[in-house]
Amino acid sequence: MTSDLSDLKTRVLIVGAGPAGLFLSHLLQIHGIDNLVVEQQSREYCEKRQRAGILEQGTFDVLNLTGVGKRLATQAIPHEGIDIASGGTLHNINVEDLTDGRKVYAYAQTEIVKDLFNHHETNGTLPLTGQEVVRVDEPNGSSVMVTIADDQHNEKTIGCEFVAFCDGFRGVGRRHFEAAKVDSWSYEFPSSWLGILAEAPPMNEVVIYARHDDGFALQSMRSNTISRLYLEIGNEEQLEDWHDERIWDELDERIGLPQNRGKITDKGKTPLRSYLSSQMRLGRCFLVGDSAHIVPPTGAKGLNLAIADAVCLGSCLNEFYNRGSELGLKDYSELAGQRAGQTVRFSWWCTRLLHSQLGCDRFEQRMLKAELEHFLKSPGLQQHFADNYSGLPFSRALEI
Ligand code: FAD
Ligand code: DHB
Repeated sequence: MTSDLSDLKTRVLIVGAGPAGLFLSHLLQIHGIDNLVVEQQSREYCEKRQRAGILEQGTFDVLNLTGVGKRLATQAIPHEGIDIASGGTLHNINVEDLTDGRKVYAYAQTEIVKDLFNHHETNGTLPLTGQEVVRVDEPNGSSVMVTIADDQHNEKTIGCEFVAFCDGFRGVGRRHFEAAKVDSWSYEFPSSWLGILAEAPPMNEVVIYARHDDGFALQSMRSNTISRLYLEIGNEEQLEDWHDERIWDELDERIGLPQNRGKITDKGKTPLRSYLSSQMRLGRCFLVGDSAHIVPPTGAKGLNLAIADAVCLGSCLNEFYNRGSELGLKDYSELAGQRAGQTVRFSWWCTRLLHSQLGCDRFEQRMLKAELEHFLKSPGLQQHFADNYSGLPFSRALEI
């Protein structure tokens, strides 16, 4: 049954309470723009979902500058660069020295989501949770009707002026754009990441990206006592086949250094995929974050890109509502899409450079090894890496 709630109206309806949706809502609040976040899951579920953990300098800065960085400022672990393990040796890339002092920061996505939910709670602007957006209609050129449903399939409609789809790769936003024949590019890699969270102090101060003939491995952290580690595995491999001891042995072998072992508290498999929508705007609807683009996790870009899109759309909507100009809204797709294209390319490049189960023939594998050797000696390529790893400039400046 559908009931029309005429009192449920907002200017900007945001679909999804991941980092993109929660942060965009926060920015719109700052600009005095009425908005509502609708999330299909519970708050607890959103806060517990294990995902990314490395923040670009720009992400760190905008969270701080907009007043949601209190815990971040004290708990994030700054990293001046990364190490690359190859051929039994660790090679340091000092990102801070190669850029104008830009660092990256280890701080879990779960903590950012908690910080944003807490902030919305204090402001009385919590998302509407447990409600799935099932349909979006644009009956005329000036409004949008959004249909939401609870887990009993009770439907309601909400009227709004714009919809920001911050609903990830499997959300309704991407389907809405694809139904309108919006073109996209995608690529599925033949390997996945097996990720673990372990109660063990990280054995290296910065992230280690390891290239090994058996497959890629990564050592990262969530705190001084919690490690986050990943292994490249084949898409067809099952998590059940990777018992704890086998994971630790393989990490030691591929990284070339013995890890501090501890209790594994989370284990998951993430496919490696690149996806880029050719448009991030369709009428009154916008794609933001993973709904518009997916990157393989190598290079830690997904979360950062979601925040960068939110900064861009927040600024465009501010220009529209508070300065009466539509120019930003017209440019959003081009501006955010251009930056996203660069980031999708960087993540794809890092993935090819560091993985070894990508189905390349022997010649290609040899060439990729040569490329990594060149990278480790080339100041120019390291500069390119540092610029991208620490984060490209935002496509529009943060407005607060
Ligand atoms: P999401 O965080 O996906 O949020 C989308 C939200 O929309 C979700 O809460 C979802 O429940 C909600 N939603 C979806 N459909 C609807 C609907 N119809 N109605 C209402 N709500 C809806 N990146 C890295 O940089 N490093 C990593 O190690 C890493 N690991 C990852 C592991 C996994 C398993 C996944 C899936 C992603 C990982 N990422 C990683 C990517 C990073 O986490 C994402 O790029 C980031 O979460 C994007 O944020 P977002 O807000 O765009 O989307
Ligand atoms: C992490 C994830 C990444 O994709 C990456 O490149 C570095 C670190 C992490 O989860 O900590």
